[in-house]
Amino acid sequence: MVDINKHYVGGEWIDGSGSRAFASENPATGETLGEFRRGTPADVDRAVEAAADAFGSWRERSRIDRAEYLWDVYHELRERTDELGEIVTRECGKEISEGRADVVEAAHMVEWAAGDARHPNGDVVPSEIAAKDAYMRRKPRGVVGCITPWNFPVAIPFWHMAVTLVEGNTVVFKPAEQTPLCAQIIAEMFEDAGLPDGVFNMIQGFGDAGEAIVEHDAVSTVLFTGSAEVGQRIQDTLGGVPGKRAACEMGGKNAVVVTEHADLDIAVHSAVMSSFKTTGQRCVSAERLIVHADVYEAFKERFIEIAESVAVGDPLDEETFMGPLIESEHRETVTAYNDLAREEGVTVLVDRTDLDDAAIPEGHEEGHWVGPFVYETDPDADLRCTSEEVFGPHVALLEYEGGIERAVEIQNDTDYGLAGAIISEDYRQINYYRDHAELGLAYGNLPCIGAEVQLPFGGVKKSGNGNPSAREIVETVTDRTAWTLNNATEIEMAQGLSADIETTDE
Ligand code: UN1
Repeated sequence: MVDINKHYVGGEWIDGSGSRAFASENPATGETLGEFRRGTPADVDRAVEAAADAFGSWRERSRIDRAEYLWDVYHELRERTDELGEIVTRECGKEISEGRADVVEAAHMVEWAAGDARHPNGDVVPSEIAAKDAYMRRKPRGVVGCITPWNFPVAIPFWHMAVTLVEGNTVVFKPAEQTPLCAQIIAEMFEDAGLPDGVFNMIQGFGDAGEAIVEHDAVSTVLFTGSAEVGQRIQDTLGGVPGKRAACEMGGKNAVVVTEHADLDIAVHSAVMSSFKTTGQRCVSAERLIVHADVYEAFKERFIEIAESVAVGDPLDEETFMGPLIESEHRETVTAYNDLAREEGVTVLVDRTDLDDAAIPEGHEEGHWVGPFVYETDPDADLRCTSEEVFGPHVALLEYEGGIERAVEIQNDTDYGLAGAIISEDYRQINYYRDHAELGLAYGNLPCIGAEVQLPFGGVKKSGNGNPSAREIVETVTDRTAWTLNNATEIEMAQGLSADIETTDE
């Protein structure tokens, strides 16, 4: 009998109440990587209870003390980077340098959170009254639900959990159903680090388990990274509930702007990285390339040449640039968007939707393969293919004329606002873009992927709110108390407010 991996609750590995299990499959080969219990709302209840019980004593410890556990996790991530990187690649299909980078990014986040524990924290604030000390303190919010996606199956869980734990919260983690093996290893790391029982809990499973976390009364805060549709639902559910907080980071319809003053080597390089790394399956991937008419033909020729030849194949092979898509349903979605673009009347320039059998490496016939799909269209055409996030190597070239204002107008003509880049040698154009592009993450002369953990990560508009990840997450997982202490023997009020108590005695 195959071993079915369990949930981790209150410091124990448990089967949970459900009778169903699910498999993790390698998207490049179809090979089964493991079987996992499918969590139920009752299992979530148990995990939230364990987290709520553990909160009282966890919050009483010092931040430095809590961070010590994370240093153990950090060292394990560092020592096992190659091994875990390969597991990431096997489970989610990203090529191997991306698999390793995922683990390195996780280590960076843990390092940042644990290192921050020894840094000065909070503000000392002046008061109008000399005898008053005023300062800002942070308090943990309690049980935090962390719902994470498959495309960064090690990094994003730590984006959510590292700062959250150091700040004194406890966690219920629901990883993506596509990458339960990576989540299992994360849970084992917390167990190895000896984190007190109940501080970290994990329920494997699907959307129903995630929903049970969102709806649980004892969960104070929900961190979510994933689709706009689910994130929107979470915000709708929690938006009006007093005391609850949700921070969601959703997708994008990201763009790279290439102006008439661009260095074309940087432009083509940035566009290829932005559009095709992770097979277009980053929430920061670019599906729009907005290119000035003066350089359009030259850029197009060079971009097409690479899109035609970029290496799609075995993600464990160092020579591969693009691995498979995550699952067959997603392949259907991406294919349907490529069909839709054709129906919407765009001019197709590269179509590698269906790879030749010969291009598919041996033993990988079951992989969810797709190559680049590149087309050109009018930036003003009101099309679904240029407005909706595809989450694949599906790229529109949009030619514009006029100044940088026009390029930024096209860039902003989307409901989303996550990431974007400008390629230009003209600092005035760059500054205009910096100040007017509606984005959470913006880059100059770089791809629009590859953010680092010590910067805030999050979007505007439909791309999200509240920064559920990286540095600024501290605002989401803590409440601030403005603390004021009077050191005098008399009470004196600010704003000239009288502190005299008038009575009617006389
Ligand atoms: C995502 O796009 O889903 O900025 C996360 C990046 C990575 C994280 C991306 N550090 O590309």
